[in-house]
Amino acid sequence: MMILICAVVFSGLAAIAAHGQSQSTITRAEDLTVLGQSVTDEQITLGRQVYAQNCASCHGANLQGQPDWRRRLSNGRMPAPPHDESGHTWHHSDQDLFDITKLGVDGVVAGYESDMPAFKDILSDEEIAAVLAFIKSTWPERQRESQARVTGKDGGGS
Ligand code: HEC
Repeated sequence: MMILICAVVFSGLAAIAAHGQSQSTITRAEDLTVLGQSVTDEQITLGRQVYAQNCASCHGANLQGQPDWRRRLSNGRMPAPPHDESGHTWHHSDQDLFDITKLGVDGVVAGYESDMPAFKDILSDEEIAAVLAFIKSTWPERQRESQARVTGKDGGGS
């Protein structure tokens, strides 16, 4: 439910935030952490591969999400949102992103029907951290800073 509300409330904000910003291709690990640990270039390289093999089919090869991702599907479920700055991934703390990826959305929000699979039997914790590091490495400074603040409040590092 939290996630649904966030999606509605923040989609407007995200649109404003994304306005006027060019597509970012930041790939350096400097100043970036995931779950309180410094991100390395090797981690981003691994994360890019993990993303291509496990996430791109739904969230898009360029993290762009599914077409018309804000509109509920006919089965009542939500399409896969983008993981770039136009989505709302950056509104969640590192720990929440980790839990959603590992357990699926219904593993975090009991009873919520979602097409987001749980990756706990497919990816190791290290691979999940790496894919999050890769996703975070693509965000412009503003989204990175905002998400670092949310993560700080959540107690999961920056
Ligand atoms: C089979 C399609 C599919 C695959 C593959 C998939 N996802 Fe998702 N994902 C979704 C859908 C659909 C949602 C939206 C869930 C909802 O709101 O019901 C979602 C939501 C998410 C969210 C929450 C985003 C937010 O802002 O609320 C995260 C984080 C996420 N996925 C990460 C990943 C990662 C990382 C991978 C690869 C390891 C991945 N997903 C692979 C379909 C998929």
